[in-house]
Amino acid sequence: MSLTDKNYRITMNDIVREGDPILRRKVEEVKFPLSDEDRNAMDAMMRYLIESQDDELAEKYGLRPGVGISANQVGLDRRMFAVLFTDVMEEENPTLYQYKLFNPKIVSHSAAMTYLPDGEGCLSVDREVEGIVPRYEKIKLKAYDENGKEMLLKLKGYPAIVMQHELDHLNGVMFYDHINAKNPQQEPTGVDIQSLW
Ligand code: NI
Repeated sequence: MSLTDKNYRITMNDIVREGDPILRRKVEEVKFPLSDEDRNAMDAMMRYLIESQDDELAEKYGLRPGVGISANQVGLDRRMFAVLFTDVMEEENPTLYQYKLFNPKIVSHSAAMTYLPDGEGCLSVDREVEGIVPRYEKIKLKAYDENGKEMLLKLKGYPAIVMQHELDHLNGVMFYDHINAKNPQQEPTGVDIQSLW
């Protein structure tokens, strides 16, 4: 079985790790109507996120918890990613962000930037990488759903950060590319930037 087959279960064996050229490539637009292969692969990516956040299933299948996964992280040359998370900044009834996004694009963004104080991680990176990863504090993201319907997401803070991390993958960019090489904890200068918390 392969991950373009229906009901495939992605495990860490399917996750492409840093060093693989597909993580450094600007991947291809998805065509609509979706092919069965693209639809099945996206379903498998979302299933990965769901199962990876379930302690029992994550343990059983050896899944590293993830909040987002891009198609090229499972070796597919497609502009699509899945996300599953709640907004960590909302204490009561946090908003759930569960999206399968195709051909996503940032149409506008704030000048202000933010970053996660604990840094970022990635399913394709098997090591801790410390340092400030500057992200736009707010973005407007245009994307298509699995039926080819256009949507516009207005995102701020944590959700904006996650989406920028995943969108970067589709452009061959790794999160640590944004870290100041000389001083990883150095905020960029000349920019309105604040830690998310
Ligand atoms: Ni990543």
